[in-house]
Amino acid sequence: MVTENRMPMTPLERVDEPDMGTHLIDQHRYTDPEFAKLEWDRMWTKVWNIAGPLCDIPEVGDYFTQTLGRESFIFMRTGEDEIKGYYNICPHRGSRLRPSIGLGHAEQIQCPFHLWTFDIEGELHTVPDRQHFVNGIPEEKQQLAEVRVDTWGPFVFFNMNEEAEPLSEFLGVIPSHLDPYHFEDYHLVQDFELIWECNWKFAVDQFAEIYHLPALHPQLIEWWDTAGTPLDVYDGGKHSRQLIRQGYPDGGAWTDEMARRHGYDDKEMITDSQWQQLAAVGIDKDSFEGGVNDVRPAITKARRELYEQMGVDVSALHDEQLIDDYHYMIFPNITLNIGGTSLTYFRARPHPTNPDQCLWDYQVYARLPQGAPAPPRPSTVRGTARDVEVFEALAQDMAQAQIVQESYHSQGFNGILLNSEERRIRAMHHALEQYLYGPDR
Ligand code: FES
Ligand SMILES: [Fe+2]
Repeated sequence: MVTENRMPMTPLERVDEPDMGTHLIDQHRYTDPEFAKLEWDRMWTKVWNIAGPLCDIPEVGDYFTQTLGRESFIFMRTGEDEIKGYYNICPHRGSRLRPSIGLGHAEQIQCPFHLWTFDIEGELHTVPDRQHFVNGIPEEKQQLAEVRVDTWGPFVFFNMNEEAEPLSEFLGVIPSHLDPYHFEDYHLVQDFELIWECNWKFAVDQFAEIYHLPALHPQLIEWWDTAGTPLDVYDGGKHSRQLIRQGYPDGGAWTDEMARRHGYDDKEMITDSQWQQLAAVGIDKDSFEGGVNDVRPAITKARRELYEQMGVDVSALHDEQLIDDYHYMIFPNITLNIGGTSLTYFRARPHPTNPDQCLWDYQVYARLPQGAPAPPRPSTVRGTARDVEVFEALAQDMAQAQIVQESYHSQGFNGILLNSEERRIRAMHHALEQYLYGPDR
C-alpha cells in the first residue's frame, strides 16, 4: 500500500523463518568469561553497534563519547553531512582525549596529558616542543585512529570491522519497516544508563518475550494482549519483531467469544487502564458512548486527529501503529518499542570484564512536528536498580534478571528451554553463532 506522499507503509505480512532447531541453549554462554571473550573477538568487534543519538550532535564540532567493552570512542559532526568516529585515544602515549562519558562541542581536540592538539578531522595540528621529537613524528601518530560510522533513523552507528558489510545491508528489513515513522523528527526526552546484575544477553532476553507478562507484570495485562501476537524473525535470525496488541481489557483472555458474551456495547466491562488511556486523548466517562470493544478504535481515531492537529504527519502509519507496541529487535542488543509518535529504546552492552553484569541504556524519543525546536537535552540518569527509581515493570524485570543470572551458575540447571513464543531468544543465539563459529558449523 502507498500513501499520498508515496511513503511505503510498514509491511504487515508474516515471513518464513530460518530453521533454528529446538535444542537447549547452554546457560554457560551467560556466565563463562571465555565465552564473553569469544563474543568480543568475533562479534562485538565485527558487528554494527549503535553509538548514540544523532540529535546530540546537530552542529559541526558537536561530539559525544561512548564506550563498548574496554573501548572508548568519540563521535563528532565534522561537516553538515559528515560524522566521524575516533578511538578516544591520543596517539602520543595513549591518554583518553575526552572523558569516556559525555558530550560537548570542540573546535579542536586537545589531549589533556601533553596538549597535543588535533583538528576535528583528526589531523595532528599542534605539538608542544615539537623539536624534542628529534627523529620526527611517525605518520601513524599524525592523526586519530578512526572507526567506521554511519547513520540510520535517530541513531549514529559504528563498526570496528573495516571489512564488515555496509550498515544498510546489516539492517536488512529494518529500514523498510520503520522508515514510515519518520525517525528523523524524533528527539531524546529521557536518558538512563543502568547497571544490571546479569549478562548482557539476559537483559536482551528479558524484552524478547511477553510469555512472562502475566506472572511478572500482572499490572499490565489489562492493556496488553499477551496471547498469540504476531512474531517474526528476519535476516537469518538477526532481527525480529512482535506486534503486541494493546487496548484490550483482559490481556490475552479477551476473545471475540467473550466480547459476544458480554456484549460489544458493555460499558461496564471497560477497565481502569482503558479509561486512563481514553482520558489521555480527551475522552471522559460521560462522553464516551461505546462499549468495551469500542475503546481501541476510539483511541486510535482520537490519536490520529490529535497528531494531525499538532502538525505531525502520521499518514504513512497503519491505524494499529497508533495504538499497538510495534516491538522490534536489532541484533545483537537493541530493543525498540514503537508507538505512534514515541520510541523507547533499550540497549544492553557487555560489561568490560564481568559476564555477570551489563550496562543497560534506556532512552525515550518523542516525535515533534517537522521544524519544531528541539527540546532541551535531558541529563543522563546513572545507577543501579537499588539507587535509581524506574517504572514498575522495569524494576520487576531487573530483579528477575539477577535471580536467573545466579541460577545460571548452578550445577542443578541443565540448559535453557524455549517455547515458540520465546523464539526471538533462539534467533539471537542463532545469529550469534554465525558470528562466533561461522555459517557452516
Ligand atoms: S598522551 Fe596525549 S599528548 Fe601525550
Ligand atoms: Fe518484562
